[in-house]
Amino acid sequence: MPPAGEGTDAGCVTRGIGAAAAGETTPYRVAGRPASSKDIVEVRSPYDGKLAGTTSNATAADIEDAVAAAATADRALPAHARAAALDHVSRRLAERAAEVAALVTAESGKPVKWAAAEVTRAVSTFRWAAEEARRDSGELQRLDTDPASTGRLALVRRAPRGPVLGITPFNFPLNLVAHKVAPAIAAGCPIIVKPAPATPLTALLLGELLAETGLPEGAWSVLPMTNATAAELVADPRLPVVSFTGSVPVGWSIRDRVPRKHVTLELGGNAAAVVCPDWTDLAGAARRIATFAMYQAGQSCISVQRVYAHRAVYAELADRVVAEVRALRTGDPTDPATDVGPLIDEAAAGRVQSWVQEAVAAGARILTGGERDGATMAPTVLAGAPDDCRVNADEVFGPVLTLAPVDDVDEAFARINASRFGLQAGVFTHDLRTAFRASADLDVGGVIVGDVPSYRADQLPYGGVKDSGTGREGVRAAMDDLTEARTLVLTGIRW
Ligand code: SIN
Repeated sequence: MPPAGEGTDAGCVTRGIGAAAAGETTPYRVAGRPASSKDIVEVRSPYDGKLAGTTSNATAADIEDAVAAAATADRALPAHARAAALDHVSRRLAERAAEVAALVTAESGKPVKWAAAEVTRAVSTFRWAAEEARRDSGELQRLDTDPASTGRLALVRRAPRGPVLGITPFNFPLNLVAHKVAPAIAAGCPIIVKPAPATPLTALLLGELLAETGLPEGAWSVLPMTNATAAELVADPRLPVVSFTGSVPVGWSIRDRVPRKHVTLELGGNAAAVVCPDWTDLAGAARRIATFAMYQAGQSCISVQRVYAHRAVYAELADRVVAEVRALRTGDPTDPATDVGPLIDEAAAGRVQSWVQEAVAAGARILTGGERDGATMAPTVLAGAPDDCRVNADEVFGPVLTLAPVDDVDEAFARINASRFGLQAGVFTHDLRTAFRASADLDVGGVIVGDVPSYRADQLPYGGVKDSGTGREGVRAAMDDLTEARTLVLTGIRW
């Protein structure tokens, strides 16, 4: 297989995906209207270098127009209009699901089975946003609880903080864009989306669907641009909210640069699963761990990276995990039978392999995997990797899993909490006390009991603590994040 970027076959533009079907350059969207520039961007599959499509980077003038339109966009759109637009996008994504999944696969190398799952989730993200837009009624508070406030009543409603700059990553080219756009529309915040340079086409296809709605000019823009251009845009005072999903250093540097803005950061993780001795279905646990350590080639912030299994079950679990990982099919992401595809580019795969080699040099044993072919890294399981190796201490963002035996839950929780990250954790136990303890004691944004940490339902609050970020996504939580309380006190009211 040729390395990413070296393929010359433009054949995949015949797949019938949006503008790429006609061999056209996909326009970007300035305040909803199509535009393009001479700064052409070719998007290629990381698997075989095939051309997925072309677009262009937005010009400085178009970026300025988009920001100016966002700053003056009509924010008084009634709930029914916002909900109708969101429902429309949800419905159209469902209608075009196969085409959208093929585009996600073509530009990101995500196996089509996972791309299809991502589209299903985005359908639900927009549907939830429509429902929340309708539900959003604020809160009535009686104030006559104190003598001084007799006859007073408050309405606390949430007002949009203002236009949002949404910066999105390559690993979920659709649903993590949906998690920026859908709550922003539901909450009445204009949004400018800056998609990942590797995967702009899916975000632009989403723009095509948004353009079918009656949302007012300036309510949304989708602007491919370089990361350097985005770094300048972050400081624009007309965009008081920055919602960033991506790497840890970039995320925190944004927050440090604009401390007066409202900044939401969804960053990395090194998620762990704990397997307790009371968990009898080791076959099921091993299947889930293997699948969700390797899905999307490990390129999810909540893919399983570390497993801490009680000594009583460790040996059997390790054997089963290795067997499950060996059974995964690695290869062409367009093949519906493929489980594991390439990483986003060859450099990423090379980095992951070097981290594995570093762990081996520090005493780890490779139970399976370790090899690499271009951008595709073989699903790899390690035992005995020291805690301070990068495969444990940092975010691998690749198909690598480490296994370690522990004496008890205390040790497992301590090793999870020793991390600088804190996104999600999974605890395989039937014991309710351990479940509640996990929720109380683990320094993470979410705990999944009886499953891997990789579970996410799009309506749930989602986000991390420590280096993993600040703020929460998940439709309702994101709407809270994008808005602030406005209080109206009424006097002379008889309750
Ligand atoms: C992420 O990588 O943070 C997103 C995970 C997900 O939405 O499943």
